[in-house]
Amino acid sequence: MPHLKYFGSNLFIENSSIVNLTKKNKTPFYVYSENQIKENYLKLARSFKNSNPLICFATKANTNTSIIKILGKLGAGADVVSGGELLKALKAGIKPNRIVFSGVGKTEEELKMAIQKKILLINIESESEARLLNKIGEKINKKISVGFRLNPDVDAKTNKKISTGKSENKFGISIKNFYVIYKNRKKFKNLKIDALSVHIGSQILSDTPYKKTLNVLLKVVNNLKIKLKHIDLGGGFGISYERKNKEINLNKYAKLVHNFKQKLNCNIIFEPGRSLVGNSGILVSKIQYIKKGPKKYFIILDAGMNDFMRTALYEAKHEIIPVNKVSKKNFGALEFVGPICESTCKFTSYKNYQKISEGDFVAITNAGAYGSSLSSNYNTRPLIAEILITKNKFKIIRKRQDLLKLINA
Ligand code: LLP
Repeated sequence: MPHLKYFGSNLFIENSSIVNLTKKNKTPFYVYSENQIKENYLKLARSFKNSNPLICFATKANTNTSIIKILGKLGAGADVVSGGELLKALKAGIKPNRIVFSGVGKTEEELKMAIQKKILLINIESESEARLLNKIGEKINKKISVGFRLNPDVDAKTNKKISTGKSENKFGISIKNFYVIYKNRKKFKNLKIDALSVHIGSQILSDTPYKKTLNVLLKVVNNLKIKLKHIDLGGGFGISYERKNKEINLNKYAKLVHNFKQKLNCNIIFEPGRSLVGNSGILVSKIQYIKKGPKKYFIILDAGMNDFMRTALYEAKHEIIPVNKVSKKNFGALEFVGPICESTCKFTSYKNYQKISEGDFVAITNAGAYGSSLSSNYNTRPLIAEILITKNKFKIIRKRQDLLKLINA
């Protein structure tokens, strides 16, 4: 997280001190660096410059309107997976003709909304969805521009809980089934097949699975001699959560994509989420209690798995760093845990750690993607605040949910 650093012993994001934030805001809360988000987008856009892609931010990674807005202003579109995300993207000022809609279970209401809002592309994920969309098109006497999301049966070599491109995953349509649908395309008179899309998984750290996917797509397009307006290559670019994670080499992949685009002569769309916002955010939490267990200390935070789910769901590793650093590491073995009544409400463990005390603050790092967006009210806990830092200024971009409102909802 380049914009997260210590000045002396104090943790800063850009030029804003986190200690200062804890004095003015109740913990836990998320903090994001605006400049980090911008740099991430510009880096991605630069890598793929030769293919001039439409980069649609996968809003599921972070659905905060202010964050979608920052990316929109830089030229990003949006990849949405529900009517709610579609409305959020529009609210954030993303133009409908820069929005793509994926998802295996879109409802009739959501499909109608997407058509009515005139979005760029609906990516169909089953024959039944194609039938429903065709019926809607018939009723309104319109030909609807669609993409078909293919399942290329490629192993993205990522955490199996976030793999989406293998045949055992529910996502997309197998190549075999797509050939049948394409052969029978006369049955879908109100659909115009303008695109093919893929998304093989998330937190992908090698270009090999992407290369395999491009080859599958190329084969399909050549076999069917199909002329497409767009190819949507999905997202999934991995980031470095642990020192041993090497970020994916996008330049190598960008060359393959450029080559691919020249062969097919169509627009390229990407749907990155994590790589745009993951390293932009931290979750700041207070140490509520320290409890000595037989083998380790339990450091009980005021943030729980309802605020940050990734560890409980995927055993994801997130470094937890002190807001006030001291150089001596003499605390001994400890585990950061949350207050929720579930054994999986725990975060990272350390064999040794600096001296910490009850009332100190720590930051869960790389929490900008799938942090706040996956949070919930479990244990009847209010959703926490989100704060955006720009240089030395901070702005609350989502207020902490009011407990009484939550109770009376
Ligand atoms: N497009 C589609 C159709 C997707 O399903 C996803 C993510 C993306 C794009 C964006 O993928 P990204 O660039 O962020 O990897 N909650 C999990 C990740 C689930 C990803 C689901 N789909 C996590 O915290 O790791």
